[in-house]
Amino acid sequence: DLAQIGVTGLAVMGRNLARNLARNGYAVAVHNRSPERTRRLVDEFGHEGTFVASESMADFVASLARPRAVIIMVKAGGPTDAVIDELVPLLEEGDIVIDAGNAHFADTRRREQALRGHGLHFVGTGVSGGEEGALLGPSIMPGGSPESYRTLGPMFEKISAKVDGTPCCTHIGPDGAGHFVKMVHNGIEYADMQLIAEAYDLLRAGLGATPAEIADIFRTWNTGDLESFLIEITADVLGHVDNETGKAFVDIVLDQAEQKGTGRWTVQSALDLGVPITGIAEATFARSLSGHADQREAARAAFGTDRAAIEVTDRDQFVEDVRRALYASKIVAYAQGFDHIEAGSAEFGWDIDRGSLATIWRGGCIIRARFLNRIREAYDENPGLKSLMVAPYFAAAINDGVPSWRRVVMAAAEAGIPTPAFSSSLSYFDGLRAERLPASLIQGLRDNFGAHTYRRTDRDGTFHVEWAGDKKEHTA
Ligand code: 6PG
Repeated sequence: DLAQIGVTGLAVMGRNLARNLARNGYAVAVHNRSPERTRRLVDEFGHEGTFVASESMADFVASLARPRAVIIMVKAGGPTDAVIDELVPLLEEGDIVIDAGNAHFADTRRREQALRGHGLHFVGTGVSGGEEGALLGPSIMPGGSPESYRTLGPMFEKISAKVDGTPCCTHIGPDGAGHFVKMVHNGIEYADMQLIAEAYDLLRAGLGATPAEIADIFRTWNTGDLESFLIEITADVLGHVDNETGKAFVDIVLDQAEQKGTGRWTVQSALDLGVPITGIAEATFARSLSGHADQREAARAAFGTDRAAIEVTDRDQFVEDVRRALYASKIVAYAQGFDHIEAGSAEFGWDIDRGSLATIWRGGCIIRARFLNRIREAYDENPGLKSLMVAPYFAAAINDGVPSWRRVVMAAAEAGIPTPAFSSSLSYFDGLRAERLPASLIQGLRDNFGAHTYRRTDRDGTFHVEWAGDKKEHTA
């Protein structure tokens, strides 16, 4: 019998996606460059469903029912291109190639165009949820043609996570739309994690609490507005004790955060599109800063590491302040991420529905959180929302949080605790709502040194002052 879908690349993510499909009743063709992995999958998990194993790519393709649907789950970049090059000559018009890795959306656009030339569908798909998600139900973000989604949609929706019975999978938009939103998802993931890390740092410095005590605070937070997967696992990680030393795990881990690149891509794309995603950018740069060990050592030697104590008079109030600052900053990060998606959608003609996106991020993915329901509601009520921050629910949450937010950022600045994401999010908020911004001075300076011209508040036109001469204004 022919398989309904195939997976090539059986490292942990590919293997778990294949198992998820098989467990949901699909006959799954499986293939890996080294056949050892394929054999191991069938040996260990063959009982879970129907796997059709092949050693060669040709046999793998031949084992699939038409239109063939092949999921590629290999390293992004060169390895993906290599597999595509091997596959394409074996496929026939109408077949579908799916890249479920974390590819750059520009690569996905290029590949989609190239495969379209061969009469093939290329579907760049975001898959979030890590190993466990891939197996038990991820959040799935497929791009590509609407026609390809007619074949893939039912299968992907079946294997995805469900929230209130709704699948965490929807067709995002054509060509690179799926990988673009997965990229921004990861950027938001970076911001979320940085905010959590700053909150932890503040609680530790302010309360002198142990990681285990802070774990309890996060556990409590996870019962309210902040309820989310990342807050939940923060409690787990903070509560964990190193087996070898008996010390808090978080204290024996080297404090240099790594990244595979999706956060960096998000920031690069936002710069291209002119979207101020300050929270994601600060989170990405904070990881970079942490990795500059030599520079950090030189700075410690030059300036010392002293920090002032944070004066906490009311412990509960301080914890509540940090919670509100975290929540307000988180709203900013998501608002910026959704702005970025809107800008990408407009630039590339994707017509992405932000409300549906919030819906499929409610479960399965790393940034799943209770408040995504609120984001969906906000876009349901007003699809043209200017910023998520101004939706009534979020505006109220921010207004509630502002005094706490300011107290926390001030305390951090006074004590010398770095809070790049907390403080830049607050600045973003104050920047957006300012009556006048000093951008007017910047325009004046640009006109002064480079005759770059400016516009006036009181009448239309473009103007320039003869700075070096009579200082008269001319129409430019
Ligand atoms: C997901 C994650 C995943 C990503 C990790 C690691 O949605 O399941 O985003 O795709 O690989 O989060 O990313 P970094 O190594 O860049 O931190």
